[in-house]
Amino acid sequence: MAIGVFDSGVGGLTVHHRLVERFPTADFVYLADQAHAPYGGKSGEEIVDLTRAGCVRLFERGCDVVVLACNTAASVALRRLQQTWLPGYRRELGRSVNILGIVVPTIEAATGLPWEHEADRRGDKVEKLDVLGVFSTPATARSRVYEIEIDKRRQDVAVFSEPCPDLARMIETGAARMELTSVIAGHVKALATRIGRHPDRAILGCTHYEIVADLFQAALPPGTPLIRQPEATADALARYLARHPEFDPGTSSNRRFMTTGRPGAQHSMVEAFWGAPLSFQMA
Ligand code: DGL
Repeated sequence: MAIGVFDSGVGGLTVHHRLVERFPTADFVYLADQAHAPYGGKSGEEIVDLTRAGCVRLFERGCDVVVLACNTAASVALRRLQQTWLPGYRRELGRSVNILGIVVPTIEAATGLPWEHEADRRGDKVEKLDVLGVFSTPATARSRVYEIEIDKRRQDVAVFSEPCPDLARMIETGAARMELTSVIAGHVKALATRIGRHPDRAILGCTHYEIVADLFQAALPPGTPLIRQPEATADALARYLARHPEFDPGTSSNRRFMTTGRPGAQHSMVEAFWGAPLSFQMA
């Protein structure tokens, strides 16, 4: 059996990379839905359908657990699939499978609280507000998942989202770093203008952005902490697998990379981030 990792494209590799370090003997299948990337400008229904199709491919290739290493899929489709589709699909498949997301671990890391924790009252005056900026795709921003879920847990954290409509596509297609630098600086400035100041911390709420985390870091005031999704997701998966020994992550260190798009090598920015040539097979 294996762990499946799903994204619309190469962004989820940032999470995959950390998961492989954390679970070196596990087997992994990575699926990039590059035929349909980017997801960030699509409707909710399209995102749900594409995410379901990606999960089916991974379950059919023997994955027991699929990690949606994609904020857009996790924030728009995950709850819907878990509630309305997965129970019937498990019966059809005749085995226990599950889909995990990336948003819950990120919120746990941002709030310092377990997901189950919800603030039980409102009232006390908040002396100091911790301002958290979230850079994401338009679909993730529209879902308001970070604003809603963080607000349920922490009254002293104010969340402001900045949708970045074209950024995932640019990273996916290997845009020049100079071009990316100026687009990222524009979004950092737009967010600061809207808030009236820079955020105290930031979430790169699209896994593609982690590939150019250094450009976000350079555009934000020096030392602004970034909440790292790959790390948070690896921690959450370790806890999940410890609680669920029925899910078998495999033991052969087998890694497969698949795409619904054009098979073969990825562009140099991805390879630089990955640290080695990376070739995808046709899904
Ligand atoms: N990497 C994805 C995310 O985390 C998807 C980006 C896209 O396809 O627009 O949101």
